[in-house]
Amino acid sequence: MAHYYMEPSRTFSEFLLVPNLTTKDCNPSNVNLKTPIVKFKKGEKPAYSLNIPFSSAVMQAVSDDRMAVALARSGGISFIYGSQSVEGQAEMVRRAKSYKAGFVVSRSNLTPEHTLKDVLELKERTGHSTVAITSDGSPKGKLVGIVTGRDYRISRDSQSKTVSEFMTPFSKLIYGKSGITLSEANDLIWDHKLNCLPVVDEQGNLDYLVFRKDYDEHKENPSELLDANKSYIVGAGINTKDYAERVPALVAAGVDVLVIDSSDGYSEWQKETIDFVKSNSDVKIGAGNVVDREGFLYLVEAGADFIKVGIGGGSICITREQKGIGRGQASAMIEVAAARDEYFQQTGIYVPICSDGGIVHDYHITLALAMGADFVMMGRYFARFDESPTRKLKVGNNFVKEFWGEGSNRARNWERYDTGGKAGLMFEEGVDSYVPYAGSLHENLSKTIHKIKSTMCNCGSLTIAELQQNARITLVSATSIIEGGAHDVILKENSIAGE
Ligand code: IMP
Repeated sequence: MAHYYMEPSRTFSEFLLVPNLTTKDCNPSNVNLKTPIVKFKKGEKPAYSLNIPFSSAVMQAVSDDRMAVALARSGGISFIYGSQSVEGQAEMVRRAKSYKAGFVVSRSNLTPEHTLKDVLELKERTGHSTVAITSDGSPKGKLVGIVTGRDYRISRDSQSKTVSEFMTPFSKLIYGKSGITLSEANDLIWDHKLNCLPVVDEQGNLDYLVFRKDYDEHKENPSELLDANKSYIVGAGINTKDYAERVPALVAAGVDVLVIDSSDGYSEWQKETIDFVKSNSDVKIGAGNVVDREGFLYLVEAGADFIKVGIGGGSICITREQKGIGRGQASAMIEVAAARDEYFQQTGIYVPICSDGGIVHDYHITLALAMGADFVMMGRYFARFDESPTRKLKVGNNFVKEFWGEGSNRARNWERYDTGGKAGLMFEEGVDSYVPYAGSLHENLSKTIHKIKSTMCNCGSLTIAELQQNARITLVSATSIIEGGAHDVILKENSIAGE
């Protein structure tokens, strides 16, 4: 006979947190959101932690190198999407790993043989007024000079004048040497009243440009997530098909953490993939998704470093409708967190869990953490920002960004849904959609983080571990959900109910 779960499976919106005593020291500025992302032994430190409990989804519409840089700057991690060629994904990882805040690879470059006309055309096209002059016109070629608006007079100079005649030659340039820090570069900029400092390597090849105007934006980021070489920590998604080719390429590109991206992770394919990764590299690897104790234990025994939880709750997901599998996200979290705690009691090994999909309101994040998640993964949330890879469009009077599921026809990520057998799938498990455009990641994330910290203070907790320990959580009735929004008032135009 089939096994029946006698309780209905529940979602985050069916729960609320009940406040605990808030002591005087319990204010948002004292809350620390640092959280482990890979397994560790009791008393030891995890090899990787996040400074904020956020990861961005393994999706074409969410996590490319630009998102990876933006999120790591704020203290979280992106898992760059794997539904692209091995080379394409490795290149994104490489770009994110080699990104240095404030150090820009020059995008407007010419040779000394070009003319003033070429300079003006380039400026028109790119909007950049600083042009690097390299021997071969490439961004990393030998630096022979710089041209800015101060080097020519359009009214007097002939457009056929060659760049070598009016550029500021290398011999007269103030420059920094590769390896210089951003604050050292900034000192040179200030001491010599420069707008732009070229950074060159030992052979005189151009490495980066540092602009005065960028400094303020980059100078402070107390939460940024960096490795020992001061590069951002970067994750990537893999599948259970082409890992033998994909994983070595990602490792060579410098990836820090991998995750197997699958709608149903309770499978022998995942075990084989983990085996391969563990026997061929030191790279950390998460697995999933699972929604119960059995799935969790299977992947932990297989060697996974963290486990992702959630089937069918994603905003673009139609898996439950199409296949009738899944579980309410809250019920899945509660069961897996209990299994994780029990495993920790028995073995002394703590395996972080990630709540993936279905986060709609900011308080859902706090609930997920209170229910035992160490971090969350979100797609829709991040897709709304400038930094997501998709187009921003105007639909009616509103700006939107495109957002499509990995199981949609558009993404064609069939590996994620494959259960073996025939290659390719016969039906979709995701939709193609828009999400409201919301502006910059940094601004939105700051607000969300403030809300989470503030709720944690209501719950008398200064860390995620304390929240997991002390939270009191109540089920809400259908009627009290109505009570939770604005009710029995006449809303003024443009006022926002809830969030
Ligand atoms: P969201 O934060 O609610 O948008 O959920 C994002 C999560 O949905 C991802 O991290 C995936 O686990 C899952 N997902 C992504 N694409 C699809 C799809 O096409 N079908 C089902 N689930 C998806």
